Amino acid sequence: MTSSYRVGYPIITSPYRMLAIAALAVTFTAVLLERAWAGGHFYPPVTDPLVREECGSCHLAFSPSMLPAASWQRMMRGLSNHFGDDASVDAQIASRITRILVDNAADAGGRPYGEKLLRGVTGASAPLRITELPKWVREHRKVPQWEWTHKDVRTKANCLACHAGAERGYYGD
Ligand code: HEC
Ligand code: HEC
Repeated sequence: MTSSYRVGYPIITSPYRMLAIAALAVTFTAVLLERAWAGGHFYPPVTDPLVREECGSCHLAFSPSMLPAASWQRMMRGLSNHFGDDASVDAQIASRITRILVDNAADAGGRPYGEKLLRGVTGASAPLRITELPKWVREHRKVPQWEWTHKDVRTKANCLACHAGAERGYYGD
């Protein structure tokens, strides 16, 4: 009896181990889901290597879902004077970047948070700054002036200074 129990022991533990592993997997998934949820709204980040390189060297490569298509078209036409900088690229590269930005724009469809960010904006006005969208301004109304001018922030466009998840598309932390 005793010996057969001993022989059986490892066999009966294995389902328990499997259960334990399954439980771990479930917990891990729950943690990921919770993080995604806690991270707030999702603004798909730029994945295209060309756009990341050309539009991510001076600042975060902003999510195309944060401005309407008309804004990106207007911006791409004026890159030689881009907020005082020359950000121009050759015509072929510009048209590729424009297509990616436009295809993923806030009003391209299927970008619920981008659409919300455009509340109160008329497409025709083609705003060039995310940081001047009425909803963006409202979301940041509680940020005190000293934070904007802090040496680690300096500009509202420095999303990463306050949003550690910005490159992954999360702005809730
Ligand atoms: C040579 C540097 C440089 C490059 C390259 C560059 N930018 Fe900019 N960009 C700037 C500067 C400077 C500002 C103004 C930042 C500020 O207000 O602090 C800016 C601001 C912006 C803003 C507005 C941010 C806000 O205030 O909401 C957007 C959107 C933007 N850039 C998109 C792009 C895109 C798209 C590309 C690629 C085609 C690009 N940038 C490439 C320098 C650059
Ligand atoms: C000085 C710090 C600071 C900077 C810089 C900053 N934010 Fe925020 N942002 C906040 C705070 C604080 C909140 C409100 C509290 C919260 O939701 O975490 C917020 C909220 C938001 C929200 C709403 C939350 C959500 O998940 O929808 C978005 C979107 C956002 N910021 C985007 C941006 C973008 C894009 C930039 C850069 C162009 C930026 N922020 C720059 C501090 C900052």
